[in-house]
Amino acid sequence: MIDLPDDDLLRYYGARAPEYESIYDRSERQADLSALRRHVAGWAEGRRVLEIACGTGYWTEVMAGVARSVLATDAVEDVLAIAWRRGLPSPRVEFRRADAFALEGVPRRFDALFAGFWISHVAREDLSAHLQSLESRLESGGRLLLLDNRYVPGSSTPVSRRTGSGDTFQRRRLAAGGEYEIRKNFLTEGELRQFVGPRARRVEYREWPHYWAISWVRG
Ligand SMILES: C[S@@+](CC[C@H](N)C(=O)[O-])C[C@H]1O[C@@H](n2cnc3c(N)ncnc32)[C@H](O)[C@@H]1O
Repeated sequence: MIDLPDDDLLRYYGARAPEYESIYDRSERQADLSALRRHVAGWAEGRRVLEIACGTGYWTEVMAGVARSVLATDAVEDVLAIAWRRGLPSPRVEFRRADAFALEGVPRRFDALFAGFWISHVAREDLSAHLQSLESRLESGGRLLLLDNRYVPGSSTPVSRRTGSGDTFQRRRLAAGGEYEIRKNFLTEGELRQFVGPRARRVEYREWPHYWAISWVRG
């Protein structure tokens, strides 16, 4: 049993679970998604990957074919239930419930850490410390890959609010009903390089019209 905060983000992703993957059906994003899948698969090849906030396992499946192993974690039972149904090869690929802010219960060490569309939900003021805590799950020389959205007018949900610390929020409606206000930061390359910090080695940033990806080696 994990002890989770009573959090709007968790409630939102629980309610969104059955409709989550429609985000990957958007026609204007297909070319970028193909490129991104190749990028992720190339990065994961032969590695022992810890995946944070794996959701329904879309990127887990991309890595499953090439990685040595993947332990994919998420805090929300309803998204993990969908991920489990993918039938990915066990025990090489495993899903486990875990809070990204409390990974101490994840015992093994890994040589790679992946998080897709996760850090946009983390408050800017917490981001450097959060990235350091993720890095601590890795052996020295381990690699990290993060990817997330760029803001594209007409495709992205409009920003509804901005706080003094620069965090932005969106109001999101679900097909099943209900509206949620969710933190969603659109980080620039310069901001990402700052959050990753001077300790990182071999920092590489890539972008496509709808997405960015940043990778580095733990210093
Ligand atoms: C935008 S989704 C990304 C899902 C998946 N990585 C993908 O790219 O398709 C964000 C995920 O963060 C998960 N999440 C929210 N709070 C979390 C927490 N504290 N710890 C771990 N996962 C969390 C949600 O359940 C959701 O699956």
